[in-house]
Amino acid sequence: MTTHHRSNRSELIGKKTHWQISDLGVIQQDHQYDPELLEVICQKAVAIKEEVSAKRHLNLRYIRQAHVHIPEILELVYYPGRLDLLSTLAETTLEPYPLSVIASTITFMGATPDDGAIDWHADGVPVTEIIPLEIHDLTGGALQIYRGDYEVGLNKVHSGDTLADLVSIPHRIGASTLAQLMRVLHRTEPITTGHRISLNLNLRSRDKPYIDDNAAYYLAADNPDYKWVDQYLDDVRARQVPAYLAFQRHGSLHRAM
Ligand SMILES: [Fe+2]
Repeated sequence: MTTHHRSNRSELIGKKTHWQISDLGVIQQDHQYDPELLEVICQKAVAIKEEVSAKRHLNLRYIRQAHVHIPEILELVYYPGRLDLLSTLAETTLEPYPLSVIASTITFMGATPDDGAIDWHADGVPVTEIIPLEIHDLTGGALQIYRGDYEVGLNKVHSGDTLADLVSIPHRIGASTLAQLMRVLHRTEPITTGHRISLNLNLRSRDKPYIDDNAAYYLAADNPDYKWVDQYLDDVRARQVPAYLAFQRHGSLHRAM
């Protein structure tokens, strides 16, 4: 299986942080997913684009809770061997992201202002797997990561400076990109011709589900109906708080010894 790119998180941002699930940065390698399944998902996404996709912030047009609109996506989420392989690559056990509105998305990026390409940001979800479904006549559109501290980089962007020292990773059909981009500044390189359609399957740590940057305001900016709140709080109650308290107890045990 060919690996096209591999950067550790500490290499990308120049430090190890507490707020990370592992040292996973970005790994792009060939995938084994059924091309016919990806084609079906792509065709359905194009068919419902006008009806269900929206651009609310960050200059990004995408279909939210894509697996609800296109159930075939669930076949990919639970594709045989997928979670084991991705967990091996991440060097920690991963699980599908539980919050339906952002568990899976389909992004449309292109040269037209109607689609655009996402501006500088850091991810709310801990980990994402980006699977390109269609790449057509594309100029630009690579994943660009600022090599350095997120706060420093974002201040430069807000001051109007051009960021230097970027890692640029072009997407390619047949390869998927697994990335931990919480508090890692990145964007899609502006697109001057063509378009790209991608499926994003989000993930998190099984053991540290509270390491997550999807704040309620950030979710609400994209999902202003607040229908996700019960699911969000249920997850905090059932998974995040117990895991956090277990980690705290474990930590204080270490300090006491
Ligand atoms: Fe992102």
